[in-house]
Amino acid sequence: MTVTKVYGSSDPMEWVDFSKDSLKIAAASIAFNPIFWNAIARQEYHNKILTKLFCGNARYGCYFLAVVIFSLGIVRDYIYEGALREQPVLDVLTTPVVKNVAAALFITGNILVVTSMWALGVTGTYLGDYFGILMDARVTGFPFNVTDAPMYHGSSLSFLGTALWFGKPAGILLTAWVWLMYQIARQFEDPFTSEIYAKREREREKKRG
Ligand SMILES: *[C@@H]1O[C@H](CO)[C@@H](O)[C@H](O)[C@H]1NC(C)=O
Repeated sequence: MTVTKVYGSSDPMEWVDFSKDSLKIAAASIAFNPIFWNAIARQEYHNKILTKLFCGNARYGCYFLAVVIFSLGIVRDYIYEGALREQPVLDVLTTPVVKNVAAALFITGNILVVTSMWALGVTGTYLGDYFGILMDARVTGFPFNVTDAPMYHGSSLSFLGTALWFGKPAGILLTAWVWLMYQIARQFEDPFTSEIYAKREREREKKRG
């Protein structure tokens, strides 16, 4: 049994135990994932290394990347939960109201993630555009009609739900870190993918003459 310290709300400096390596490892893992998939996707767009690895089959290359990214996500979630276990609980976060909010956020977050994966398919979710596997048309149905980035916002909500469920201010801090990393990732991804689709549009225009 691990004994978790429960602090009153008097001294905010005590809410997060910054001395724990697990906290830093969680922060590093959270930052690593979007950097990793952006780096791999960009090289794929320019050099097609994964496609070549799968004998020219872009689809298999993308499936492989999907498995890698999905696995990295599971590892990150596992590290995150492990890090939370070593962090103090804040007493005001232990009420039933907070637990209910936490569950609602977690469920909402997961619905957003799962439904956007469903709407986009494997290649649409896992950077297929960089492999040259483009969507036929922009997906505008649910959940893309409620938020512009359901996958990222959904993931952030799940992190927040987990933090509140366990009553951990450190989890709220790591959630802010997740959100920031996703914002930065989108600064790189959104213009790049827009350009990939704009390029296809220009080529179609040219064919039409
Ligand atoms: C989004 O789309 C779903 C399914 O097509 C629909 O039921 C829902 O009302 C839409 N939501 C908004 C905010 O437009």
